[in-house]
Parts: sequence; structure tokens; C-alpha cells
Amino acid sequence: MSETFTIKIDGRECVALQGETVLQVARREGIQIPTLCDDKRLDPAGACRACLVEIDGQRRLQPSCAWKAADGQNVKTHQSSPRVQRHQDVLVSLYMSDHKLDEQGLPVETPNGNDLRAWAKDCSTLKLDPVNAPRVARPGDKNPYIHFDPELCVLCARCTRYCDEVEAVNAITLTNRGSETTIGTAGMRGLLDTSCELCGGCVDTCPTGALIEKKSPKTLPEQVTKVRTTCNYCGVGCQMDLNVAKVDGQERVVRVTSPEPGTTVNDGNLCVKGRFAYDFIHHKDRITEPMIRKADGKLHVVSWDEAIKFAAEGLKRAAQRHGPESVGFISSARCTGEENFLMGKLARAVFKTGNVHSCAAT
Ligand code: SF4
Ligand code: SF4
Ligand code: FES
Repeated sequence: MSETFTIKIDGRECVALQGETVLQVARREGIQIPTLCDDKRLDPAGACRACLVEIDGQRRLQPSCAWKAADGQNVKTHQSSPRVQRHQDVLVSLYMSDHKLDEQGLPVETPNGNDLRAWAKDCSTLKLDPVNAPRVARPGDKNPYIHFDPELCVLCARCTRYCDEVEAVNAITLTNRGSETTIGTAGMRGLLDTSCELCGGCVDTCPTGALIEKKSPKTLPEQVTKVRTTCNYCGVGCQMDLNVAKVDGQERVVRVTSPEPGTTVNDGNLCVKGRFAYDFIHHKDRITEPMIRKADGKLHVVSWDEAIKFAAEGLKRAAQRHGPESVGFISSARCTGEENFLMGKLARAVFKTGNVHSCAAT
């Protein structure tokens, strides 16, 4: 069987690979199809119905996120199918009828963004009467990091599927029935009393901001600049984006997010430390400049050149006076592999000692 074949989307010939879904082909071709429950890291659920398309030979509209592309298939999205556009207009309006709206009548913006808001802007929404959906949050959830607002939840189940399929933790689940369906835990306990690892992946995947970080409840996506860096909590090398925004006139890290799934080694995921433990960056006790204790017994701020020279001379003096075994070097798993390699070189090649260790080995 050939590995590639062609399908038509909105009249355009598109190359597809065996096993790809219609949505994957469309995205590669730059054809926009709205989605809410789709996440590259998760198995398709076909739950939100945002991505329905018309496929020749199919009586019903089909979810492009779950429908496999097949040779010669003819697909129409909302761009070329009035039926799909009508479906989207009605569906967005239904979602909005029990969603928190702003003064323009659009789904509210959140620090995580809100895909429903972005999608609603492209639709001719109907003015439906608001629906009372008595979804509940978890009362008294004292966890320090994750806030759940049931009024913004579209029940796409991305958070629960992430917790199950990626984290294999199953701390959260869809619970209750009908309009009372919500995101719950066993016995509706707070996350600290469940198997939750506070990885924050559920926050990351939530498309509407129903799950947000408690630490940065207000900073909207357009107010932050992302600075890519490598996490230094362990040696895996996860890539992370420091979200920097002006707070009280000063640039501050207000959030840490992962780059897009599929682009870096951590595939869109972070652990509790990488995602949430960034308060030290702006802590008043943090030492940010090199210091030397001088003859007066006090620490004095010096330049890096001066500090490095001072340390090198002290080490050399000790090695000359007492032999190479009198000095030792301790490196850290928070350093990169290259930095640890250089520490080994410094010990063995320069000071001729095997006294080199890593804090991670203890
Ligand atoms: S923080 Fe991680 S472990 Fe906890 S509920 Fe969310 S996805 Fe599951
Ligand atoms: S909390 Fe977010 S990710 Fe979870 S079901 Fe609701 S909208 Fe989807
Ligand atoms: S993205 Fe396809 S059904 Fe939700």
C-alpha cells in the first residue's frame, strides 16, 4: 500500500499519510478547522463537535479530529459548506448559552486564552437565552496552584484525559450527569487530598481557561512576552517558556508554560517544579551578584572576573600547599550536561584530582 495518497479539502488536493486524520491533513495544509477537545498528546475523543466536516458519502457531518483520511476522499469545511457553517453557528451559540460572557457578549478572555472566544468571533452567533447549568466546583479546594471555574467549562474532557493518558494519575474525572456534569475528584476532595501531582498539565490543555493558575489569575496572553529557557530543576532538559509581564512597572515572570507539544523534548509537559516553582526568581533573598568576604569580614559585591580569579587563586594555593587530593569539586544536576562535563575536566585535567561529584548522586 502506498504511504501517501490525496484527499480533497475545500476543492484543494492535499497529500495525506496513512493513518492521518482529516484534521491533521488540514492543519498541515494551513486549512483552519476549529477544535476544542483536540490535543496532539491525547487520543481523539470526538467530544466537542467543533471540528465537524462534510464528507462525500457520509449522511452525517463527521469529526475531522477522529475521522481517518482515505484515498480520494472529498471533504468540505465551513469554508465551502454552508451546512458546516450553520452547524458551527448553532454549536457556538449553545456553548455560549451557559458560558461566562463579557460586555461584548463574547466568551470571556482568560490568562490561558479562550478558544471558544476566538471561534465565536468567526461565527454568526444566535442570541439564545442563557441556560442555567448548575455545575459545581470543588468547595474548599486548598491546593495552592490550580483554580477551576465551572462557568467556563465546556466539558471537553481534555483535562481528565490528560490526567489519565499523559500523567497516568486519574485524579480528576467527569462527574455527575446532564447539566450538572462537572470536573470532580473522588468524593469531591481538594486536589491535595487526591493522587494529583500538581503537574498543571490540565491547566495547560484546558481550551477555555476554566482551569487557570491561582498564582497569575489576571495576566492575559497578549500581555506577556515568552522567553525560552531550559528548566534547571533536574537534568532532563525540559524546555520552558518564561511568561514575562510588567507588574507594578517592573518586568516579572508571571507564569511558566511549555512550548507546543511535539516541538521539544518534554512534548508540551512540565512537572510541578518546572511549572510552578518560579517564585525564587524575584525573591528578595536571592543572590544575584558575586560576593567576596574581604579582610573586614564582610561580604562585598565584586565583578565576575574578580570573583572567579579569587576562587581560582584560592584553589591553586590549597592544591600547591597540600596536594591535589586536598581540593574537591561538587557539581549539580541543575547544571547542563556540558557544564557538568567541564567541571569534570577542571577537576581531573587541571587539578589532577578525582575528587569530583554531583549533588544528584547523594
Ligand atoms: S495537575 Fe496533573 S495530576 Fe493533577 S489533576 Fe491536573 S493533570 Fe492530573
Ligand atoms: S476544565 Fe477545561 S479541559 Fe477540563 S473539561 Fe472543562 S473546558 Fe475541558
Ligand atoms: S475537536 Fe473534534 S470533536 Fe472536538
